Amino acid sequence: MENFVSIPENLKPKNKKFGAGPSSIRKTALAKVAASDLPGTSHRQAPVKNLVGSLRDGLKELFTLPDGYEVVLGNGGATTFWAVAASSLIRERSAHAVFGSFGEKFAETVSGAPHLKEPYLELGGVSARAQGRETSSEIAFLRGDQEGIDAYCYPAHETSTGALSPVKRIEGGLNLVDATSIAGGITVDISQTDVYYFSGQKCFAAEGGLWVALASPAAQERANEIKTTPGAGRWIPPILDFSVALKNSVKNQTLNTPAIATLLLWEDQVQWMLAEGGLPAMEKRTRASSAVLYDWAHSRADVSPYISAPKEQSPVVVTIDFHDIDADQVIAQLRANGIVDIDPYRALGRNQIRVACFPNVEVADTQALTACLDYVIDRL
Ligand SMILES: Cc1ncc(COP(=O)(O)O)c(C=O)c1O
Repeated sequence: MENFVSIPENLKPKNKKFGAGPSSIRKTALAKVAASDLPGTSHRQAPVKNLVGSLRDGLKELFTLPDGYEVVLGNGGATTFWAVAASSLIRERSAHAVFGSFGEKFAETVSGAPHLKEPYLELGGVSARAQGRETSSEIAFLRGDQEGIDAYCYPAHETSTGALSPVKRIEGGLNLVDATSIAGGITVDISQTDVYYFSGQKCFAAEGGLWVALASPAAQERANEIKTTPGAGRWIPPILDFSVALKNSVKNQTLNTPAIATLLLWEDQVQWMLAEGGLPAMEKRTRASSAVLYDWAHSRADVSPYISAPKEQSPVVVTIDFHDIDADQVIAQLRANGIVDIDPYRALGRNQIRVACFPNVEVADTQALTACLDYVIDRL
């Protein structure tokens, strides 16, 4: 590359992966997959079912699931879960807090469902500004008890911007909370949600392709009710039927064939999280790493945190605006030095970097990353 800035090896982080998903995987977990006999064996037999059972038990313990909640899983990732929700959890009309790309995508999925009424949208942050509305908040809040609304949907964390929302029950319907990129990286009171759903390739450092939903008794009943109501007016393909996923999950299996390597990685990460002290310990790690980056963003006049209100700042995905510095050039220089995936979310269209501080990221590595950023910026 032109004007390559070679970063001294002693400044570089040990682990050079900072992507917001797929995220950095612990080497010991990968070694466990390589050593396992399970890949290449039937997912309907005891060894794989026991693995699914151990993953479900581990998640139950990690999130201290309230009585009656179930760990439900299915193939397809959180994107598929949106279609599951549109098919078999939303009865008639949902309300959505939309403040970034992922919240927008869920609302679009629901909006396209012919059996549902057009969803109610509450826009905030970047999504409000895109409609020409001024707002100082990077998130949006839904009002409860809205007439005709049976499901309230919001992201606990918008991965496109790094905006963090409180998780607090909204009365008057099911609460469907997108925790794809924050689950496992922060403490949460699951009783404040009906479905807290996520994928494996973020804090859980597995591969993509599987969704997990922590589902309340009310969510389970809703899926059964929609399925059995004559004239509910919809066709529910089995892969999008939450009641089918539930039936399979309690038998420690998925409706169709899962990726066994993903299950192995995910289960190993949950066991590691529990051994380290569970969610409080994970939050301590993510807060420590992200604080290094927020402090760095305040230490230089030519950069600043994109999310300015501390309570809305994510502990797991830090977005930093660059002023009078070309972020693309910095990102390319770091990539040429082996330090990867600090690119911003493209659709946001900002001159910034986005750095993941998932539990696997060591604080010493975020510190090293800031040293590398200084080194490159000061030499461009
Ligand atoms: C907040 C959020 N929701 C949903 C998704 C979609 O997840 P998946 O790619 O596993 O379908 C993502 C992916 O990055 C996300 O960050």
